[in-house]
Amino acid sequence: MLLANIELHGEDYFHVMSRLHAHLNPRTYLEVGVFRGASLRVVSPSTQAIGIDPNPILDEPAGPNQRVFAKTSDDFFAGHDVVAELGGRRIELAFINGMHQFEYALRDFINIERLSTRSSVVLVHDCYPLDAETAMRERCTAFWSGDIWRLILLLRKYRPDLAVHTISTPPTGLGMIFNLDPSSRVLADRLDDIAAE
Ligand SMILES: C[S@@+](CC[C@H](N)C(=O)[O-])C[C@H]1O[C@@H](n2cnc3c(N)ncnc32)[C@H](O)[C@@H]1O
Repeated sequence: MLLANIELHGEDYFHVMSRLHAHLNPRTYLEVGVFRGASLRVVSPSTQAIGIDPNPILDEPAGPNQRVFAKTSDDFFAGHDVVAELGGRRIELAFINGMHQFEYALRDFINIERLSTRSSVVLVHDCYPLDAETAMRERCTAFWSGDIWRLILLLRKYRPDLAVHTISTPPTGLGMIFNLDPSSRVLADRLDDIAAE
């Protein structure tokens, strides 16, 4: 955490996300990885929101336009008509902050992109690796961002059509992905090869 405070300055990701919600004013929002609900609480009350987490421990009840599904994201996407769950609308803003191994985040991105629009935005937590120990696939430190940073590298390599940015917001950076293509099959068709590479 000390290293994060030294390397990354400015507003933490909750403040950045709060400003993004106010600026984009999305009609729909989907969050993978809810935990205690802190990032769900920055969502505007008028946004139709879905949270997914196999083990949510909400500090406060979800808002009237928010529903939390106690499932893994893979199970959720496989078993739900997400557009129907969002009242017939596609995902306009998403936040990936679930399992800290990149292939999970990659599958989440693929599932979210196919349910999005060209102008949707996907945010990804933990994209700024601070050091080797905290950026490993297996957790060996209390502070752990995992290897989600690999998602940023592979998107830049395999999907040059996407606009992929990283905001250096504490504690571990926030990826921002624009110019989505819901019809793209590039990642889905090469999932195993990309993960192996
Ligand atoms: C870092 S916490 C999320 C924090 C929250 N987004 C925030 O910013 O306050 C990560 C959460 O991902 C959840 N998680 C782990 N594996 C998951 C999976 N396969 N699908 C969805 N969520 C998962 C964990 O249960 C944990 O609550």
